Amino acid sequence: MSVSRPAAVIVLAAGEGTRMKSRLPKVLHEICGRSMLGHVLAAAGELDPERTVVVVGHAREQVVQHLKDTAPAVGTAVQDEQNGTGHAVRMAVEALAAEGVALSGTVVLAYGDTPLLRGRTLADLVEAHESAGNAVTVLSARVPDPAGYGRVVRDPSGAFTAIVEHADATPEQRALDEINSGMYAFDGALLTSVVQRLSTDNAKGEEYITDAVAILRGDGHRVGAALAREWTEIQGVNDRVQLAEARRLLNDRLLTEHMRAGVTVVDPATTWVDAEVSIGRDTVVEPQTQLRGRTVIGEGALVGPCTQLTDTRVGDDAKVRHVVADSAEIAAGANVGPYAYLRPGASIGPRAKIGTFVEVKNSQIGEGSKVPHLTYVGDATIGVGANIGASSVFVNYDGVDKHRTTVGDHARTGSDNTFVAPVHIGDGAYTGAGTVVREDVPPGALAVSAGSQRNIEGWVRRKRPGTPAAEAAERAENTAERRGEDS
Ligand code: UD1
Ligand code: CA
Repeated sequence: MSVSRPAAVIVLAAGEGTRMKSRLPKVLHEICGRSMLGHVLAAAGELDPERTVVVVGHAREQVVQHLKDTAPAVGTAVQDEQNGTGHAVRMAVEALAAEGVALSGTVVLAYGDTPLLRGRTLADLVEAHESAGNAVTVLSARVPDPAGYGRVVRDPSGAFTAIVEHADATPEQRALDEINSGMYAFDGALLTSVVQRLSTDNAKGEEYITDAVAILRGDGHRVGAALAREWTEIQGVNDRVQLAEARRLLNDRLLTEHMRAGVTVVDPATTWVDAEVSIGRDTVVEPQTQLRGRTVIGEGALVGPCTQLTDTRVGDDAKVRHVVADSAEIAAGANVGPYAYLRPGASIGPRAKIGTFVEVKNSQIGEGSKVPHLTYVGDATIGVGANIGASSVFVNYDGVDKHRTTVGDHARTGSDNTFVAPVHIGDGAYTGAGTVVREDVPPGALAVSAGSQRNIEGWVRRKRPGTPAAEAAERAENTAERRGEDS
């Protein structure tokens, strides 16, 4: 059966989350590259609802700003005082009514602190709801420890009659292990009327949305509870221990999907991946690797060990070992690391090499070019097939402004060079070891800037008498003399 497009999804995110002990509102805490609220909205988005409304209250400026930045199509409703989940839903319904929206058809309700929720689970809930013709369908779950959750109460025939909150439950009800996940499908018109009838006659003195079940059933409507296939999916996060558990579960789920799609993850226990990362087939991810943000990795690549890539693109068959990269591009067949740092705007060409202790920022390295050892490349453009000698510095900053260096195709620069930008090294040019390049080098020229070498004979004997160096020099001089006598 195909599922209809819900009239609305309402997500509750007005609570403070006191147990997080945080300046950040609970729903904005991050796991796997998204806020918890962002994960719930991503799952809800898979239903393609006509509108999505997030109920905000505590620290609402922060939550609203976050929504503007990450989910600009989402609307908000304000709940100034947190008088319960039912009150929060009423604020959303009333905000929509004020915009002239009369809800009809299916409305999905979820809470902003359940980041493991999947779109497919919500779609199953909507399908169960619509095919049964229910007024409300609750997603329920059997959990190992039901303490704190609302319990799903059934009559002796097994029919679902009510949700009773933990604080209001009798000892017999507390023994029930089927709980309310906090995700619901409602008939929109019935939801609109029932939120006006919720009482505050309960342990917390709040309007509970969960009371809607018994009220609608009392009116003669059908109510249902659909069991979630996987209970971990409905786990809420109330403190930082649960935040870490949810992160581990989500990470495991994401890695499992990558492995099933043909990626080798050598050590899932030490590999962390964000929700929006993509990895091609036959790529091997070695231990202790973190793939963050919108990182995209091609096929057959080797990434890790001990590598952290953020918003970075890696081409097919590239090798990226012991690397930290942020907003960088590594083309197909390139070889980066071990121990390299690619900063924003670093673009490493096909089959190029960035070696050990090399830092690259805002620079293009052409196809097949090599920067093998101990070098800083900042604000440079290097052509194809060039080789940059060990221990070189692209001096891009004069203390006030940044300047660019360009190195032509197939240029060979010597070890320990300093390129004082702006400067241009022509195609096929060479530079000698220790050159300080302050002026442009024409194509095919050899640039040298160090003066001729001068040896001051006997300096160590005169200036450092009695040192191990002086003694070693003396031994060498004596040996040379003896050889001279022998011959
Ligand atoms: C709620 C359910 C409970 C269910 C559990 C599942 C009610 C009355 N109880 O309990 O049956 O088993 O979730 O996790 O619904 N919020 C607001 N405004 C408010 C109060 C809460 O926006 O006035 C938001 C919170 O930010 C949170 C969500 O609603 O995202 C749930 O609130 P919370 O206080 O955590 O409810 P639970 O006690 O966990
Ligand atoms: Ca909760």
